[in-house]
Amino acid sequence: MTRLVAVATASLLAFSLGACTSGTTGGGAATACNVGITMPTRSLERWINDGEQLQSKLKAAGCTVDLQYADNKVDQQISQIQNQIAGGAKILVIASIDGTALGPVLAEAAKQSIKVIAYDRLINGSPNVDYYATFDNYKVGNLQGTFLKEQLKLDSATTPINFEPFAGSPDDNNAKFFFSGAWDVLLPYVTKGTLVVPSGKAPKSNDEWTTIGIQGWASDKSQAEMDNRLSSFYSGGKKVQAVLSPNDSLAIGIEASLKSAGYKVGSDWPLITGQDGDKANVKAILAGEQSMTVWKDTRKLGDRVFTMIQQIVKGEKVEVNDEKSYNNGVKVVPSYLIEPEVVTKDLVQSKLIDSGFLKASDVGL
Ligand code: BGC
Repeated sequence: MTRLVAVATASLLAFSLGACTSGTTGGGAATACNVGITMPTRSLERWINDGEQLQSKLKAAGCTVDLQYADNKVDQQISQIQNQIAGGAKILVIASIDGTALGPVLAEAAKQSIKVIAYDRLINGSPNVDYYATFDNYKVGNLQGTFLKEQLKLDSATTPINFEPFAGSPDDNNAKFFFSGAWDVLLPYVTKGTLVVPSGKAPKSNDEWTTIGIQGWASDKSQAEMDNRLSSFYSGGKKVQAVLSPNDSLAIGIEASLKSAGYKVGSDWPLITGQDGDKANVKAILAGEQSMTVWKDTRKLGDRVFTMIQQIVKGEKVEVNDEKSYNNGVKVVPSYLIEPEVVTKDLVQSKLIDSGFLKASDVGL
């Protein structure tokens, strides 16, 4: 009898899941494809785009979607996830704020057989993370490091170059990967003395990255840190010539600091890296205030997560392309990694505008 009920329930479920992905409407469809999305903050353009794009794709496919932003507050994100579980979500898509803080709430989700996709940032210390979809985070940092190495011609440089590195938020698992990718390229030149770090804030190894991390990826904090470094270590006409900024929000703060210290584009402005392709930063790239951004086409990430959801809903095997890089401390989380790309001034039109990622008018073109 129990077996019969189980079989009947399973086939009902299969029917409703199938109905959802094929886009047909029907009583069971909405319940089966019921997705809770939690994003860290509205303060960064990319998360707004990420959340809205995924939500509209899912809604167009007939799914029920709840999208929440947590103002970078961990407790708020946890209660949003609790509400989504209580509200009947069958799949959770989570871009975590603190990747180590979600164990208990995911244990609740697991009790109800809810599938969990870590979005962009890995969730650590929990067995209840089914999949991870992200960009190749190590490669993001590697592209930044390689860009600086090539632009500064580090292999043939004959005079030491003043350089200041920054790292991302200590609670964000991605920040470690960004830093490692860049530091694997740059640390040998710091060790050789080709790159000199007047502030002394040069981690001796990749593992020490949190010593230069900027909490919450906040622009005002990177600005204050850069102000501090410039006023304390750059007296007597010494100039910073290159800055490793792991993303665009930190770059904005660093650029504001350089402006207030009197640096001028075209004379003594340093090389500055970034990541995301935010509008303000693309404007800065066009104005010569930022040298590059590592562009992550968030539409591709949304498409990938949409595909994962469809595969989960249909009961198919979920496609991944990396089953070794992302160990969350409990298990290696099957991942799908997307390739990031470098965008410099001359590539803004062809990469960002022609692809429809930004409008020309967004960046004053
Ligand atoms: C994301 C970056 C973003 C940063 C700050 C990281 O986890 O991968 O794209 O710039 O968080 O929100």
